[in-house]
Amino acid sequence: MRALVIGGTRFVGYHIVRKLLEENVEVTLFNRGQTADDFGNRVQRIHGDRKDYKKFYETFRRSRFDVVIDVIGYDPEDVEIAIKTFKGRIGQYIFISTGQVYLVTRNTHWPAREEDYYQPLAECPPGEEAGYEYGVKKRACEDLLEEAYKFQKFPSVRFRFPIIHGPRDYSLRLYSYIRRILDGNPLIIPEDGDVIVRHVYVGDVVRAIFRVLQVESTRGKVYNVASKEVMRLSEFIRLTARMLERDVEILPIPEKVMLEHHVTREVSPFSGKWVSYLDPSLIMEELKFQPTPVEEWLRETVRYFIDEYSGPDPDNYRQRPRELELIRYWKQFKKMI
Ligand SMILES: NC(=O)c1ccc[n+]([C@@H]2O[C@H](COP(=O)([O-])OP(=O)(O)OC[C@H]3O[C@@H](n4cnc5c(N)ncnc54)[C@H](OP(=O)(O)O)[C@@H]3O)[C@@H](O)[C@H]2O)c1
Repeated sequence: MRALVIGGTRFVGYHIVRKLLEENVEVTLFNRGQTADDFGNRVQRIHGDRKDYKKFYETFRRSRFDVVIDVIGYDPEDVEIAIKTFKGRIGQYIFISTGQVYLVTRNTHWPAREEDYYQPLAECPPGEEAGYEYGVKKRACEDLLEEAYKFQKFPSVRFRFPIIHGPRDYSLRLYSYIRRILDGNPLIIPEDGDVIVRHVYVGDVVRAIFRVLQVESTRGKVYNVASKEVMRLSEFIRLTARMLERDVEILPIPEKVMLEHHVTREVSPFSGKWVSYLDPSLIMEELKFQPTPVEEWLRETVRYFIDEYSGPDPDNYRQRPRELELIRYWKQFKKMI
């Protein structure tokens, strides 16, 4: 099998490439060559910027691949050129989408099922332009692929993932909690931020992709992938602390009070607006896909951050001194009432 991976060297794409190599797939990577990787000469490399659409087309218009895995399609133009370039010459095109495609609509059904996608767009919440635009553009990419399958049988399969966890996760969102648990002081979550957590393991992202590669009838389809377990964020944080063999105290504090003390919601990244809650029943039933138990993948991810990660603290950890002040104030205040 010959695969082209667009991206492939940072987190999600890196894990996909590792698995492709384990399975003896012939892999070509297309990226700018700026992010280092350890694949050596086990992969073929083509360097370029995917945003240079003319050159992208020129580079690939005669190539043939069994599968193209587009890890980093964010703009409809990315997908438009991919369809034009690969039409008629590839077996399958895998597109990595996001649960955010549901969050930018007026959907009221949670956990979202695949068919809940077909809702009108909601208005952009004030101050949330970046997250909103990300979801709207991913939708535009998906719409193009859906149409290209319908009218030209362009063989795409789309995946919608919630927050993805695992080794090499450069968002450092989970590490934000780990770092605080390890410093031994309480954790603040916004009072309305003890949200439902149903994220996904990067190993399951990879397994789901491999599953559809084996099943021809998946072309033109879209699948949610997420863990089976559903829990509150506070439970998820306690589970993380257990893996670290630490105790943790969680303090819910009204956001208004947090802001008065110059502490933003970013101290609890999973309490943010753009955390999707997906129903993975379709892939579980149709493709007999079994997600990895959350305890298993959380242990593996925590182990990575403790034993292997050597990068900087998350940006939000700079707020920690202000958080500690707020914690002292809040405990005092609670004693008084
Ligand atoms: N993380 C999550 O929680 C989450 C959740 C849902 C969906 N997703 C989706 O997961 C995908 C992101 O995965 P990832 O960042 O981990 O992917 P990745 O493929 O592991 O890393 C990004 C790759 O893109 C390359 N790249 C960046 N800009 C480029 C450009 N202009 N032209 C060519 N190559 C470029 C980088 O290499 P160079 O720097 O060398 O170019 C690198 O290889 C996105 O589609 C995102 O929507 C993520």
